Amino acid sequence: MYDVYAVREDFPVLKEVVYLDSTATTQTPVPAVEAMLEYFYRYAGNHGRGAHHLARETTNRYEDARETVARFLNADPSKTIFTKNTTDGINLVANSYPWEAGDHIVTTMLEHHSNLLPWLHLQKRGINVTIVSPDRKGIIDPQMIENALTDRTKLISVTHVSNVFGSVQDVSRITKIASRKGVKVLIDGAQSAGHIPVDLKALGCDFFATAGHKGLLGPQGTGVLYIKEPDLLDSASLGGGTVSDVSGLAYTLEPSPACFEAGTPNIPGVIGLARAVEYVEKIGVSEIEKHEAKLSRQTAKRLLELEHVEVYGPENRAGVVPFNVPGLHAHDVSLILDQTKKICVRSGHHCAIPIARFLEVESTVRASFALYNTEEEVDILVNAVNALKALVS
Ligand code: ALA
Repeated sequence: MYDVYAVREDFPVLKEVVYLDSTATTQTPVPAVEAMLEYFYRYAGNHGRGAHHLARETTNRYEDARETVARFLNADPSKTIFTKNTTDGINLVANSYPWEAGDHIVTTMLEHHSNLLPWLHLQKRGINVTIVSPDRKGIIDPQMIENALTDRTKLISVTHVSNVFGSVQDVSRITKIASRKGVKVLIDGAQSAGHIPVDLKALGCDFFATAGHKGLLGPQGTGVLYIKEPDLLDSASLGGGTVSDVSGLAYTLEPSPACFEAGTPNIPGVIGLARAVEYVEKIGVSEIEKHEAKLSRQTAKRLLELEHVEVYGPENRAGVVPFNVPGLHAHDVSLILDQTKKICVRSGHHCAIPIARFLEVESTVRASFALYNTEEEVDILVNAVNALKALVS
């Protein structure tokens, strides 16, 4: 097991607050911030667009970053696209896939809006969408997905780890079902990469979208999209860096990944992301997974013992624990925790309104964990939530 107190030294803000909102965004370690500063101070140039030495250094570092991230996910670098965030990656697939009217997509009610709205939008182009429900604990039964397939189903799009419940979905079984039926699978890995082991070749999915600023500990404005068969997509976002030739009305696309990365990318962000990924790799994702699961199980168990608290989600979960204090609005709970104990948790519908409706609540409070959280922080949270009893009894 790694030394969580040594890790915390690399995240200075943790000396000031009890940060339990890593599902929204994690903190970024000092070495990754320093890598970005080094870019700005020593070699800032553009990527792939110049012969001078700063442009060459930038290009080399950016492509090295791609190798690092691809190795981490066990993907081919040429199939590893840098995006702005998970949402951007999913929209890229939705907008570039060769849909035909009448095609069908299966997704779930568990999804973050980012893995739901791009598919709902396609209804305007004659695409049909089926939404499969989870159970009350936030688990999707792969058999329900199989039952929803039709002979027009082109894609199953499903979350790996729910951002509301922390429930881990059996995506391997879903990819096996899909491959038997010749259906593509997109996995929303926003809450899995960096938190639980992800091996894209073993998973066998067709698309995997994740963010740089969550489990990978990188900066905001970075994301990664894996595309197993890049030639299947017709990139819908074109511009600088995406073509090898333009003549009259015709153009020739660069091969992947360049054809999917139009315009100047977030170069410092990607360089910081790669350094952050190395940081995660050094600690080890399996160790991080165990640590976060331990903290979230402790939290859920102890909150469940409080009579004035409702807790949602399964017993075995990743580092996410949603709860409510009936009688208090989730935003009020969050503000009280912040103002009394500097505890940062998210409250609201967590960009998953269908799930709030499914639970018949307007909102929940969500505590979420990362590699740098401690059991002492669990104590602080549970004691602070316990103290809310006085406000509701
Ligand atoms: N997707 C992020 C969350 O769940 C923003 O908080």
